[in-house]
Amino acid sequence: MLNKLALKIGLLFFVFIIIIESVLFLTLYVTFVNERVDEVMTNLLARGNTHSEVLADSFEPATLDHVALMESASDFIVIITDAAGNELIHSDSIEPEMQEVLEHTDFGEVPQEGQIVEERWNEKEFIATDSPITVAGEHQGHVFMFAETNQIKQMVSHLRNQFLAVGLIAIGLTVVTIFLLSRLITLPLIRMKKATEQLSNGNNEVRLNIDRNDELGELANAITTLSNDLDRLKNARNEFLASISHELRTPLTYIKGYADIASRPAASEEEKREYISIIREETAHLTELIRQLFELAQLDHNQFSIRKEEFSLEVLFQSVVALVRPAFDEKQISLTIRCEREIVAFIDPERFQQVLLNVLDNARKHSPEGTQVTIRGTQDEKTITISISDQGEGIPEKDLPFVFERLYRVDKSRSRQYGGSGLGLAIAKEIVEAHGGRITLHSEEGKGTTVRIELKRGDSVAESIVGG
Ligand SMILES: Nc1ncnc2c1ncn2[C@@H]1O[C@H](COP(=O)(O)OP(=O)(O)OP(=O)(O)O)[C@@H](O)[C@H]1O
Ligand SMILES: [Mg+2]
Repeated sequence: MLNKLALKIGLLFFVFIIIIESVLFLTLYVTFVNERVDEVMTNLLARGNTHSEVLADSFEPATLDHVALMESASDFIVIITDAAGNELIHSDSIEPEMQEVLEHTDFGEVPQEGQIVEERWNEKEFIATDSPITVAGEHQGHVFMFAETNQIKQMVSHLRNQFLAVGLIAIGLTVVTIFLLSRLITLPLIRMKKATEQLSNGNNEVRLNIDRNDELGELANAITTLSNDLDRLKNARNEFLASISHELRTPLTYIKGYADIASRPAASEEEKREYISIIREETAHLTELIRQLFELAQLDHNQFSIRKEEFSLEVLFQSVVALVRPAFDEKQISLTIRCEREIVAFIDPERFQQVLLNVLDNARKHSPEGTQVTIRGTQDEKTITISISDQGEGIPEKDLPFVFERLYRVDKSRSRQYGGSGLGLAIAKEIVEAHGGRITLHSEEGKGTTVRIELKRGDSVAESIVGG
């Protein structure tokens, strides 16, 4: 399979590294060659200067002969002229190129330390230097030194070959490294891609054996966690469906049973009335259950429109308390509001009323007579906190983590007594979270329960400031 990511990464790296390597090699090569050529030039000039110094001491035919003889045995060629450029002596035969150099020389203007007169080693056959001969402060002649450029050319081509060889090795190593590197990066990615494909095909048992602690390892872990979560969700959904069908079946069984008994000819009028009232109760319970389930389904799909507005917490508390007061009075539970004045929350009052009703309903159901339920409202710079405390039976610690789950009831056997279906807190949680808030529950068995709702203040404060 053409592994596209690896190819892209590989190519990108390759291009970059090749550019960097080429620049480096080129610079190195040019500097190297220039230095070597400079060295050769300087040596040639130094040799010429030595001759001119010797001749300055004794500018005589014997010395001239001697110099010419010396250079005829060396790789260099010397031509000595007088001040006007007339040739006095030469060591080897004079090539046309040398003649050209002589012709192009301005004999009047040569610096004391000599100069390089031909340095185009890659165009010409010879490089050349010119050292003036000065006897007692007077300009007497010139020593021209020539060296064949063949040697320089050979040396440079040798260098170039070496550089090419090293460059090729470097490119080879680069290719191998990039290949390995890109495999190292993309292999786990490909495995993860396969894993997520499996996930979407419904296979949640994904095991990614990617044991590394970099970002790829983290990604692999995230995918594994995701697959576990999916698995859990699937199980939760199945459980939820099972509980729903159970929840629906129980009241339906009651209804059918009582309807059967009521329709028996032997049943008295009074019995019939009683059975029918039970049937009505159960039907009401069923209707409520289905309404709540529907509401939850809507909350799940965000179809729930939340119309937030600035609303006084105290007014909200009072309206809720007015609704539940009769039921609390009946059970002789006192209900108190403690709310700082002028707390304004940015909420959907109708939905929040429902949250408070659900929580208060629980408090009432699970508190004995003569106890107290308090609903509090406080705020600081960042949060508005609503808390509802009761002095009821409390919730066992082992059940605490689950009370917000759908259809979860602490005591299943007593459900008939309380008439709950275990959806109240789940709905409350969805609504609070849809407001960007948080709901928590603290409880101690035998002492009581406190439900705490926290809302961020951000929006409402900004708006109330703008509003004056
Ligand atoms: N204040 C409380 N004191 C004691 N137990 C509580 C309290 N609030 C909740 N619980 C326990 O948590 C469970 C879940 O509460 P939730 O409100 O979700 O369901 P419910 O009250 O049983 O049914 P519903 O609210 O749908 O009528 C309850 O069944 C109850 O056992
Ligand atoms: Mg409830």
